[in-house]
Amino acid sequence: MKMREGRKIFFLIIFASFLIAFAIPLMAENKKAKETDYTDKDAWKGKDAEAKSNYAMYCTPCHGDTGKGNGPQAEAMEVPPRNHTDGNYLSTRTDDQLLKVIKGGGPAMGFTSSMPPFDNLLTDEEIKGMVKYVRTLCNCEYKKIGAAR
Ligand code: HEC
Repeated sequence: MKMREGRKIFFLIIFASFLIAFAIPLMAENKKAKETDYTDKDAWKGKDAEAKSNYAMYCTPCHGDTGKGNGPQAEAMEVPPRNHTDGNYLSTRTDDQLLKVIKGGGPAMGFTSSMPPFDNLLTDEEIKGMVKYVRTLCNCEYKKIGAAR
């Protein structure tokens, strides 16, 4: 009788460890899927807040709280920071051009080096979020008619 109890417990333990061994990785897998499982269209849902706070931290010193190009550092600058609320101008720029400037700094697009590169501070995904955020400031998108470089 005692032997049998022991066996039961032994098998129960084996069963339980199987459950744990399979259930935990499955749960982790699920979580991963949730983090990256978004379509292009809603890619930045929920990331808007992150983009906004990144902008507030890294961009407003030059580009200003509302993106008008009048941040506290702007006065001392030879080339004024771009006005991100200027829809007429920004609709001449493609998302890719904006991304390159934010990632590689002004010189990446032939602009002044006082627009610093952010590839060492922000991930590619965060930089895409910045492009999208700038698009909300200008309330504009790229239109082909403009004279894009
Ligand atoms: C140290 C000041 C400074 C900071 C910080 C800064 N910028 Fe700029 N930015 C500039 C200046 C100056 C220009 C204008 C460059 C020129 O006209 O040659 C510019 C231009 C731009 C442009 C215009 C690109 C185009 O196609 O005309 C974008 C977009 C931009 N900045 C985005 C950002 C974002 C996003 C951040 C924060 C992640 C940021 N900048 C932080 C100074 C700054």
